[in-house]
Amino acid sequence: MAKTAELIIDGKSYKLPLVEGTEKEVAIDISSLLEEAGVITLDLGYKNTGATKSAITFLDGDNGILRYRGYSIEDLAEKSSFLEVTYLLIFGELPTEEQLKKFSDDIKKHTMVHEDTRKILDGFPSTAHPMGVLASMFCAQTAFYPESLDPSRSSEAFYLSAVRSLAKMPTFAAWAYKNAMGHPVNYPDNTLDYCSRFLKMMFALPAEHFEVDPVVAQALDKLLILHADHEQNCSTSTVRIVGSSKASIYSSISAGINALWGPLHGGANQEVIVMLENIRKDGGDTDKWIAKAKDKNSGFRLMGFGHRVYKNFDPRAKIIKKAADDVLKKLGVNDPVLEIAQKLEEVALRDSYFIERKLYPNVDFYSGIIYRALGIPVDMFTVMFAMGRLPGWIAQWKELRENKEPIGRPRQIYTGQNQRAYIPIKKR
Ligand code: MLT
Repeated sequence: MAKTAELIIDGKSYKLPLVEGTEKEVAIDISSLLEEAGVITLDLGYKNTGATKSAITFLDGDNGILRYRGYSIEDLAEKSSFLEVTYLLIFGELPTEEQLKKFSDDIKKHTMVHEDTRKILDGFPSTAHPMGVLASMFCAQTAFYPESLDPSRSSEAFYLSAVRSLAKMPTFAAWAYKNAMGHPVNYPDNTLDYCSRFLKMMFALPAEHFEVDPVVAQALDKLLILHADHEQNCSTSTVRIVGSSKASIYSSISAGINALWGPLHGGANQEVIVMLENIRKDGGDTDKWIAKAKDKNSGFRLMGFGHRVYKNFDPRAKIIKKAADDVLKKLGVNDPVLEIAQKLEEVALRDSYFIERKLYPNVDFYSGIIYRALGIPVDMFTVMFAMGRLPGWIAQWKELRENKEPIGRPRQIYTGQNQRAYIPIKKR
């Protein structure tokens, strides 16, 4: 007997089916509610609303659990690689050595971009934020691959779009950086691994030998794993709703990049470093800034603390914090804001004000410190988040298409004027 929920409106009873997931999560299926009861539900920001059923990522906010296709983020961050995790997220299983090599080789075939893309890049002033450049470059791929405008093509066609997207993301990201620096772009060196290829495109200068530091490449690989997917977050939900209209995967990814750009989402990692730098410039008195964070009238908010889903800790933050310590030690970097960050975390983890409000470091809190240690400029932090999140966007877009999900079309509660007669301008 299927379990149901009972809703009573004006004395009338409505039975709604309950849906249970493989991790015993329960949802009330309200898809018949409007037709049966003439009412809708309201949930600003959809924080209590499931938009889909997905087999890709599992989050348990109360217990700080994050798994990609059943594998814990702790295991994957320690033992896997970004390309292996990418394969897992998109295709559902860890690849064999042969599958991973083919996947990596297929990506290498597409790291170059059409030279006409340079005309788009050259149109951006060096003041352009790299996220805007990145989103534009991705949407422009619909022009170079018009066949992508029909997303219901074969699985082979999807695979080609996926490897093209994964291959070109580092190229576009590095080019956006070079554009901001006013420097000539570098072309991908396919003799290198995924992260090293990106780092060389980012930092190599003309007529100078450039060697990628394996410590930097390895740290970046781990950061990308930690950002690879996060169920129905803002940018992934954006990719899904754009994809639900049967838009191209490239325009769906472009929409996701734009959603991630916001300071309340991916842009938070940039805001954290700006905050830590401001505290440092102000003398590094963390107690003063903790007091400001508690003072509602101060207008100051601690960036990088708390999360919409995690109620006790963000598992990624724990991994990133250790990685930050390791990377800075290995690179011999003494970043003054790291000490400030650690002090803020120490206070936040023991102060009842923060504990009651579930304000503890999230994934953005330490990532900026590592990016800075790797030489990544602040304006590129959210681009790094996008590079990490790309596999999740692709996997979720693929799942939406395979499940033939309907176009996303939420309803509303109207709060505007009731009907009124038009008044000619002379009589107003
Ligand atoms: C993410 O990884 O997308 C962020 O933690 C935001 C979220 O999940 O809502």
